[in-house]
Amino acid sequence: MRIAVGSDHGGFPLKLPIAEELARLGHEVVDCGAHVFEPADDYPDFAEAVALAVQRGDSDRGVLICGSGVGASIAANKFAGVRAAICHDTYSAHQGVEHDDMNLLCLGARIVGSELALELVRAFAAATFSNEERHRRRLAKVLSFEARSMNSTEEAT
Ligand code: RB5
Repeated sequence: MRIAVGSDHGGFPLKLPIAEELARLGHEVVDCGAHVFEPADDYPDFAEAVALAVQRGDSDRGVLICGSGVGASIAANKFAGVRAAICHDTYSAHQGVEHDDMNLLCLGARIVGSELALELVRAFAAATFSNEERHRRRLAKVLSFEARSMNSTEEAT
């Protein structure tokens, strides 16, 4: 798979180990920055880069790391077609893909240690959407919210 990886300064310590682990597993890693540690950088800039890569289909999935994982997931979920979530337990990291078709994993580098982060990424990358009828039905409802909100935004402008 092609996987976009990005972080702000808060997630920076985990970005390289995660990118290396994904590459070791045979994935093609797209590095969306930050490329250097810059304490004044802003997580939305990296959320945008990773989310756009997923939205445009340039990457199959994304991994986004900030300090808590919260800002990253809020920002990434503003992009239609992106289904981002913070998962700090391995069950959610694979179940989010299997049931909810999560395509962007958010992590907080100040919350999880490096070994757990790598386990989370491995669980996320190995999982596939179950395609069961009940999950497709629920996903269709979620996607209808996205379509509705995009329509209402267009109508308001
Ligand atoms: C940066 O200090 C921090 O606020 C950011 O990485 C993230 O945790 C935001 O949710």
